[in-house]
Amino acid sequence: MRLSELPTPALVVDRGALERNLAAMAAVWPGRRLRPHVKAHKTSGLARLQAGLGHLGFTCATIREVEVMAEAGLGEDLLLANEVLDMRRLGALVDSGTRVTVAVDSDAVLRAAVDGGVREVLIDVNVGLPRCGCAPEDAGRLADAARAAGLEVRGVMGYEGHLMLVADPVERARRTAKAMGLLQQAHADVGGDILSGGGTGTWRTNTVVTELQAGSYALMDTAYAGQDDVPFEQALTVLAAVISVNAGQGYAVADAGLKAFGMDHGNPTLRDAAVWYCSDEHTIFAPEEGGPLPALGDRVRFEPAHVDPTCALHERMWVVEGDEVVDCWPVDMRGW
Ligand SMILES: Cc1ncc(COP(=O)(O)O)c(C=O)c1O
Repeated sequence: MRLSELPTPALVVDRGALERNLAAMAAVWPGRRLRPHVKAHKTSGLARLQAGLGHLGFTCATIREVEVMAEAGLGEDLLLANEVLDMRRLGALVDSGTRVTVAVDSDAVLRAAVDGGVREVLIDVNVGLPRCGCAPEDAGRLADAARAAGLEVRGVMGYEGHLMLVADPVERARRTAKAMGLLQQAHADVGGDILSGGGTGTWRTNTVVTELQAGSYALMDTAYAGQDDVPFEQALTVLAAVISVNAGQGYAVADAGLKAFGMDHGNPTLRDAAVWYCSDEHTIFAPEEGGPLPALGDRVRFEPAHVDPTCALHERMWVVEGDEVVDCWPVDMRGW
């Protein structure tokens, strides 16, 4: 099949760019030093490529992601880097031989791990992002409570998500070091082998974690593309067809809209064009100064501003080499 034959809108992955991104990350964070976050792509077919490079541990955000990774035979060491209050589905996976570690930041979540049959935890520490995570000074107490309850404490996790898009790399590095100081402080009280954290935006600036939880680097988005020290290529686009052209007013309409793009980081981008706005099933765009309007039926490829919520909207990813469709992966970790 060729790109021109795909039903639109379609999520399209450039295989060459994807492979170069995976290789560039693996060169700096090899093997188990990288624990790729699957929430960015939600696709076991892509996770299999990451495992093929020796990244055998994965980070997940939902129980569903953990289940699908286990079903796909990629359950050697899965971290649910999120708090969960009913862990029975995870306990069932543990019983069937999947290694599952969960993040805990309170006594209630710790109790849920025990009750649900999960045996291994990381103490989740708040390193400045106002989200989950215990206070660094409470981490030691929580680890003691976990051990007293029979759990294995593998170490600490702290996600500096508030720093990923800090534009100046020097400032990002300074603030990352400060955030990771809190993680180190907690780790001194907790023990264990693991300091887990970081992401695509801090792949160069986080020098503290023992394993990096990057996800977006594989497919990329335009929010990250603006950062000089995040050199990964845009491997993901949304293919759309031009369904209407308004020559009088100089704009065109494509058949991918809000329901095909994660929009929380802004509009998608189209080369040599200005995107005016997206509605449910439309994106309206105009060629830049002097450029020609597309013709009805032309195909255009938008670059999404945020990879994770974009992937979660689509049922499948079409993998292409140039114009040729070489594979199709179900986005099989969608849902909860
Ligand atoms: C817990 C956690 N770790 C790591 C990441 C890193 O993701 P990315 O590399 O996509 O920025 C995220 C993204 O939100 C996250 O929530």
